[in-house]
Amino acid sequence: MRDYNYELLPEIVKRWSPRGFSSQSVPEEYLWQLIDAARFAPSCFNEQPYRYVIFSTPEEVAYAKSHLMKGNQEWNDKVPAYIGILYHKTFQRNGKDNTWAAFDTGTSWGHLSLEAVHLGLVTHAMAGFERVAIREGLGISDEFEFITLVAVGYYANEEELAASNHVDEQPNTREPIDFFVFNRNGKKNNHI
Ligand SMILES: Cc1cc2nc3c(=O)[nH]c(=O)nc-3n(C[C@H](O)[C@H](O)[C@H](O)COP(=O)(O)O)c2cc1C
Repeated sequence: MRDYNYELLPEIVKRWSPRGFSSQSVPEEYLWQLIDAARFAPSCFNEQPYRYVIFSTPEEVAYAKSHLMKGNQEWNDKVPAYIGILYHKTFQRNGKDNTWAAFDTGTSWGHLSLEAVHLGLVTHAMAGFERVAIREGLGISDEFEFITLVAVGYYANEEELAASNHVDEQPNTREPIDFFVFNRNGKKNNHI
């Protein structure tokens, strides 16, 4: 059971990472809408280091699934689409390492995941896939880090859930709010 201290944006409250996906396909236009939301993430120097790969044709989806680690393959059988998330590792402006690229790209995934809720979709980000092989197989250079593969689709209907072992799946909980904040609620912080 999730408990919220405040009345948050409905999309934040509703977002979770289920494993019980429906096999219902996602309109291509929706995938582009997710990318539209994602690209409006703020970024250091407005560098926009985030990039995406859409996997939505049967061949593309099979390619993505073939790069999943075993633990993920088990629940991905019905997932109808993926968005791969990458980032450019250096600043285009001067070629130096972009320390904030991963931060900006995480924000971008956050946008994408909330826009998905808005469209009635579910998403599930994954680190458990062959990051280098999936990128190389697509001919993308190592100037880019293929950081996350996101399953995109619809939550399973009752029949599909009953036929799977995801029936009792629940949104994950969080630590209490003061766990996250260093300098409040009586916590000592020697650094400020
Ligand atoms: C970068 C990232 C990588 C993740 N990798 C996996 C994964 O490989 N397999 C998996 O089942 N879940 C994965 N997750 C999902 C997390 O376990 C999940 O987001 C977390 O437990 C919180 O649950 P919630 O998203 O339902 O709030 C990943 C999430 C993120 C953000």
